Amino acid sequence: MTVVTVDIADRPYDIHVEAGLLGDIARHIAPYSRSGRLLVVTDDNVAKHVWPEVLGALTRANIGAEVFVLPAGEAGKSWGQLEKLTDWLLEHHIERSDHIIALGGGVVGDITGFAAHVVKRGCSFIQVPTTLLAQVDSSVGGKTAINSSAGKNLVGAFHQPSLVLIDPDVLVTLPTRQLAAGFAEVIKYGLIDDADFFSWCEDNLDAFFAGNAAAREYAIVHSVQSKARIVAADEKELNGTRALLNLGHTFGHALEADTGFSDRLFHGEAVAAGMALAFRYSVRLGLCTVGDADRVSALLERAGLPASLAEADVTANGAQLVEYMLHDKKMSGGTLPFLLASGIGQSFLSKDVVLGDVASFLDAEAQS
Ligand code: GLY
Repeated sequence: MTVVTVDIADRPYDIHVEAGLLGDIARHIAPYSRSGRLLVVTDDNVAKHVWPEVLGALTRANIGAEVFVLPAGEAGKSWGQLEKLTDWLLEHHIERSDHIIALGGGVVGDITGFAAHVVKRGCSFIQVPTTLLAQVDSSVGGKTAINSSAGKNLVGAFHQPSLVLIDPDVLVTLPTRQLAAGFAEVIKYGLIDDADFFSWCEDNLDAFFAGNAAAREYAIVHSVQSKARIVAADEKELNGTRALLNLGHTFGHALEADTGFSDRLFHGEAVAAGMALAFRYSVRLGLCTVGDADRVSALLERAGLPASLAEADVTANGAQLVEYMLHDKKMSGGTLPFLLASGIGQSFLSKDVVLGDVASFLDAEAQS
């Protein structure tokens, strides 16, 4: 087992990564169960495919569990579901010392973390992510949220989990498209500040997608080590370090908005195309070489990810896409910080981007 510590002042927590962990989850979780019972939140897909194994492992260890099942997908992250979930936790006499278990992808982790934050003015929770995207990104770092009618993730809080339990073997049942969407976030860590890891992704992509266990475990461990380091340096995104994790997200947000935040373009796919656009925009500004931008697009495309507006199936023009960006929650003081790059592994935050120029760039991209 690999243990990675998220070294946040006053409340550090561990991430355990181990193939087969779910079949042995009681060993990791028993210290967190009050009087031998756990409250588990999951969704209806995970309830069918993963929960039986977890329940079996808990039962063998004489740990009882009550389960709350959300509808799968973004619909699970609504005010209505939050109300049902918090009512359920209270009906089950949740106490502040209890640890709620979030078993699922990003939606389950986000709403469970937010419910834990608000119920009884703050309970603890444990993340057990079952998608690659949740394992390498959303389960670590304490961003929790639900969606509101004004947009995605606009109601939320920073609330760190007490523990993150990752079983790479659970990815065996994940559809390839979802695996690729999570791999976009893996590649992102290489692009931010780790050129060697980007090269590792180039060299090991085929093994990763073929199901090679060592490649999968290495990709996950390296990603969570990167995320832990960045979160520890800037837990609440105040000094610019954590903002680096938003590479590709400003362009990506516009693409997701244009495709209706739907399954037409998964978040990880939008981030992939967004990262390719951020690199090509950096080339336009004379910051980065064409060679580096081409390497980024080539790797994304090898992973089956979109690297252009056309591949993302986005038809809006530059002005429309910039308009979507203006509704991004990263807007600050009337300006929109952009993540640009001077090369692979050399991303940085710029507050000097001229939105009219971004619109022209996107129009040129649409023609290419
Ligand atoms: N997913 C970006 C962050 O955790 O900051």
